[in-house]
Amino acid sequence: MPLTDTGTDKTLAALGLIEAAQVAARFVQVFGHFEDQIQNARDESTWKLLRDAWLGRKSGILTQITDNWLKPATPELKRVVGQKLNELRAHVELHIAARRAAIESGADQSALAHEHIDLSLPGVQRPIGSHHLIRQVFQQIEDIFVSIGFSVVEGPEIETPYYNFEALNIPEFHPVRDDMDTFYLDLPKGAPTPLLLRTHTSPMQIRTMEKRKPPVRVIVPGKVYRRDNPDATHSFIFHQVEGLAVDADITFCDFTGTIEYFVKQFFGPGVKTRFRPSYFPFTEPSVEFDVSCIFCGGSGTAASGGTCSKCKGAGWIELFGAGMVDPAVYGFVNYDPKKVSGFAFGMGIDRLAMLKYQIDDIQVFFQNDVRFLRQFP
Ligand code: FA5
Repeated sequence: MPLTDTGTDKTLAALGLIEAAQVAARFVQVFGHFEDQIQNARDESTWKLLRDAWLGRKSGILTQITDNWLKPATPELKRVVGQKLNELRAHVELHIAARRAAIESGADQSALAHEHIDLSLPGVQRPIGSHHLIRQVFQQIEDIFVSIGFSVVEGPEIETPYYNFEALNIPEFHPVRDDMDTFYLDLPKGAPTPLLLRTHTSPMQIRTMEKRKPPVRVIVPGKVYRRDNPDATHSFIFHQVEGLAVDADITFCDFTGTIEYFVKQFFGPGVKTRFRPSYFPFTEPSVEFDVSCIFCGGSGTAASGGTCSKCKGAGWIELFGAGMVDPAVYGFVNYDPKKVSGFAFGMGIDRLAMLKYQIDDIQVFFQNDVRFLRQFP
């Protein structure tokens, strides 16, 4: 944005201006040029050119006037040049700032004009998620047991060996510990007790009886951990629901009745069930509870004619371990085994869900593939 025709690049003497009136008239011209130019500065880029041309420190017009007109001016002209230069500077700075504000608000206005809201457009649809199938199965189980008088409690996933083993009548070096090899926490030296990821929900039997006096009827849903190699029916993290009922006169019949009621509610009335003798250090007698294989209908033979791979030809699938609470356990929680009796069970939730929903690989529960999850809204 050059401005050579007002002669600011020359001295007043070179321009032949020797009287105050001539100098004042020349300043009127300079004001006029500024007015012309500022009218044309309608956007950010031309505004910047204008600002640099007039206010630029090295060669802006105000600098030129200072260097070429004011500094070399004769003493008679210096006063009028200084006064006019001050007026010009105030005028230029004021109008350049005002023009910038005008350009910015104009930009805001035009942006707003583009942003009008069309209320007739459909809204943004945010899909609502659903509970994971394992969570849904937990809920179903909780509903069934709550309806017959059980309450739901939860406990820590990080346990001490005392609650996970010893108070359940599993002393150190007991062979049952081999089946429940787990993950121990790396603790600083001198820690008061080792800590491990619980291998089953049974420690909550002890924690509950420590806190409550009989009668006790609770279920405990939660995650458990074991160093099991992953395959179609095993995972190193899985889910259990523990059950515990202790009262003055609970019998094995109460136990079988409760379990059969649960299984028929959960799977439907058509499913066949059976108890097998088993062994757990914290129940006596102990049983394994099986249901007829839903994949082969309990025949043990696959549709292709070969052996059913899910039940391995047995026609039955193990669902959980259970039994009457061993009197030795009552000793750890100050219950009198002569006055109370009860039953306990520990179900593998992942396997219950696999059976009910005909899922043939436990690993899908942990892969979080939405194509799988969406099948269970
Ligand atoms: C127990 O964990 C006992 N605490 C159950 C119990 C409770 C017995 C109360 C008596 C009284 P077990 O190790 O069998 O028992 O495991 C129970 C169930 O967990 C099994 O029947 C099975 O369904 C499931 N389960 C065990 N290991 C795995 C695994 N690695 N992956 C998936 N499910 C498993």
